[in-house]
Amino acid sequence: MVENIILTAMIYVLNGPNLNLLGLREPEVYGNETLQDVENLCRLTAEKSGVAICFFQSNIEGAMIDWIHDAIGKASAIVINPAAYSHTSISILDALQCFNGLVAEVHISNIHRRESFRHHSYVSLRADCVISGCGIAGYRIAIDFLAERLKSWHQEE
Ligand code: DQA
Repeated sequence: MVENIILTAMIYVLNGPNLNLLGLREPEVYGNETLQDVENLCRLTAEKSGVAICFFQSNIEGAMIDWIHDAIGKASAIVINPAAYSHTSISILDALQCFNGLVAEVHISNIHRRESFRHHSYVSLRADCVISGCGIAGYRIAIDFLAERLKSWHQEE
């Protein structure tokens, strides 16, 4: 007998350097909400959309790459705010290229209204969508987008 197993889609939410200081860090650019607020928003959004999340933050490039590797085979999608590594890290791009699911890149600030060195993101070369300048609501928008896409794929199967 074939059993009907309903698998909940898993989304990894990865945050890069200095995002642990949200709330304290340049509030005029990043707002007053903390990383805990971001995590709460992601968990609430995921719950409403019927997906599961794993939430991480690291200040270390190699640790972010390890989490991307960990997502392979476990997650259907990644939300990533690579922070300053967006503009410098070919290694994070390469790691994301090894991941077979959807990728949403989030920036709390509008990187295109800021210094020119922030205008280019290596990660955007792999991202299925880029959300920039919506504040922490960008994470909610990303999870909603990914959950919808994953559901429509699931229904097509
Ligand atoms: C950021 C934008 C980056 O340029 C910056 O280095 C960050 C945060 C954002 O969320 O707006 O650390 O990714």
